[in-house]
Amino acid sequence: MLAGIDHIGVAVEDLDVALELWQGNYGLAPSHRERVEEQGVEAALLDVGVSHVELLAPLGPETPVGRYLASRGPGIHHVAFRVEGIDRLLQELAAKGVELIDRQARRGIRGSRVAFINPRSSGRVLVELVEPAEGH
Ligand code: CO
Repeated sequence: MLAGIDHIGVAVEDLDVALELWQGNYGLAPSHRERVEEQGVEAALLDVGVSHVELLAPLGPETPVGRYLASRGPGIHHVAFRVEGIDRLLQELAAKGVELIDRQARRGIRGSRVAFINPRSSGRVLVELVEPAEGH
């Protein structure tokens, strides 16, 4: 089940420039920053209450976010829901015919487990499921 909005993912060209923008305009400071080689991104989390804005800068042009920026430009990239029991939820969604990009959860930032769902199954919204690590 979806327990809340964990974060809004925003694709950016330059992480430091984006951090200055979000901090300067809205006072949002990064609580976490991490390079995720498997996903080809450097990510920063800005706390907004119990949710986050996740800024994503590509590690190169031939990465998912790099290709996204080339075709669509910067902006909202995905919406992430916080879930409990991600493995069972993925099975349930697959059984319903929801098109999963990740049939198995993989490693996300800050020790979380994540899975993406094809935008075709959510009205062209890229959805991410996040099961946070213990303590987050
Ligand atoms: Co995300």
